[in-house]
Amino acid sequence: MGEDLQKILITEEQIDSRLAELAAQIDKDYEGKDILVVGVLKGAVMVMADLVRKIHTPLTMDWMAVSSYGSGTKSSGVVRILKDLETDLEGRHVLIVEDIIDSGLTLSWLKSNLESRGPASVQIATLLRKPEAATVDIHVEYVGFDIANEFVVGYGLDYAEKYRNLPFIGTLAPHVYGG
Ligand code: XMP
Ligand code: MG
Repeated sequence: MGEDLQKILITEEQIDSRLAELAAQIDKDYEGKDILVVGVLKGAVMVMADLVRKIHTPLTMDWMAVSSYGSGTKSSGVVRILKDLETDLEGRHVLIVEDIIDSGLTLSWLKSNLESRGPASVQIATLLRKPEAATVDIHVEYVGFDIANEFVVGYGLDYAEKYRNLPFIGTLAPHVYGG
């Protein structure tokens, strides 16, 4: 697997300490409340598992799986729910946890969808954010790292379902793409 990687962008240690900072901020912001943390499958599995273990505020977890239709690697904003939540959102403080926000279209759709279910609040935490996300009108409360516009893998993120198990975030060598 080593020869497939071009470089390590964010190390395991950097992820760990940044998640600790985000968790501390979340504990401050949600003081006296219960959180419903919603992980977006499959990419957010790692960040969800590591982030919730650093949060001290009482919380429950639920999962959603969505697929966004689009040409190639670009999402279109047309989203289909593959797996819905099992939790009633009425009156709940929802914190969506994502791996990465690229165009922001998927998350923008997801946020309105969850907001329509009567929650007390909906906020967003993402490990990574790409510059294009700034062009969509979506406010993200907790961002781990802003990164350049290149394709990344590892720590939940995949290329053709591979590399999710890497403990760090990296970029792929061109030959992996057939280059
Ligand atoms: P939006 O709607 O924000 O879509 O454009 C975000 C989704 O696109 C995928 N994505 C990536 N997956 N490496 C990946 O493994 C990347 O660099 C990357 N950029 C976007 C991902 O599924 C995310 O949820
Ligand atoms: Mg994803």
